[in-house]
Amino acid sequence: MAALRAVVLAGSGRRALLSTPKAIPTPKANMSFASLPKSKKVALTTLGVITAGGAGLAMLLHQSVKASDLELHPPSYPWSHGGMLSSLDHASVRRGYQVYKQVCSACHSMEYLAFRNLVDVSHTEAEVKVIAEEVEVKDGPDDTGEMFTRPGKLSDYFPKPYANPEAARAANNGALPPDLSYIISARHGGEDYVFSLLTGYCDAPGGVEMKDDLYYNPYFPGQAIGMAPPIYNEVLEFDDGTPATMSQVAKDVCTFLKWAAEPEHDQRKRMGLKLLMGSVILIPLLYYLKRHRWSVLKSRKIAYRPPK
Ligand code: HEC
Repeated sequence: MAALRAVVLAGSGRRALLSTPKAIPTPKANMSFASLPKSKKVALTTLGVITAGGAGLAMLLHQSVKASDLELHPPSYPWSHGGMLSSLDHASVRRGYQVYKQVCSACHSMEYLAFRNLVDVSHTEAEVKVIAEEVEVKDGPDDTGEMFTRPGKLSDYFPKPYANPEAARAANNGALPPDLSYIISARHGGEDYVFSLLTGYCDAPGGVEMKDDLYYNPYFPGQAIGMAPPIYNEVLEFDDGTPATMSQVAKDVCTFLKWAAEPEHDQRKRMGLKLLMGSVILIPLLYYLKRHRWSVLKSRKIAYRPPK
């Protein structure tokens, strides 16, 4: 109401507004700590000390809980695909598939991968067709109602080593080899963890008794793993002639597993790069436009003339 009256009283609006005296005294909100009364200063300081102390204590307690027994955390390795804009090493993915096929697939399934997924990632279509044909797939029923086997096709999924989890456990002294399709995403530490696990087998420290069929691995939660060390130097011979040292084999299979868990990895980073390049143009443009559009609002002066 007062504002309305102010405009009405001002009469010839714009000029009257512009000719208002320059310095209009406005009450200033003074929020500085120094100007507070002593009691409030004390209260605020106590609150700050209690909050910081509580947070520190919570962190300490959390640390001591985390440091339970001999858990060894994997170091972070400089993966060639680790950078913000770096793609997977596809030669490594190809070798990794070879490692999976010749070593890990004896015990581990990868049930979410089909042969067609390898096309143009690690192999050509013709190569994958040959790989798929080596597999016998049960199909059917045919015209007579019988099931039959046929050579694999691109659309078939990777064969499983065991018919069901019970059979897998029975063959591995009760331990279930997990499906490796998403293992990199499913384990804390990702490829660093799997690499460390594969290369980290060692003798149990003095005084630690291992049960039969369990192996000491400092990276495995609990340190006793049911998987015998699956790789060693020269465990296989790479088709491309790369020396198959233990760490090379582990690195390649981890890169392959990383691709399996995140097949969109390269595409995602390429989209990120496009987005970055787009925003180099868009952001300055948007900034200019914003300044342009807001200039009227930003340079306007609003004054209040109290009624006389
Ligand atoms: C002889 C059978 C066998 C082979 C070959 C094998 N594994 Fe395993 N793997 C197992 C078993 C059994 C377990 C379950 C261990 C347990 O839970 O104690 C396991 C567990 C794992 C785990 C999960 C560990 C965890 O944190 O739970 C990973 C990862 C793994 N294997 C990777 C591989 C890779 C990669 C290869 C190929 C280089 C491979 N394994 C070869 C039997 C095998």
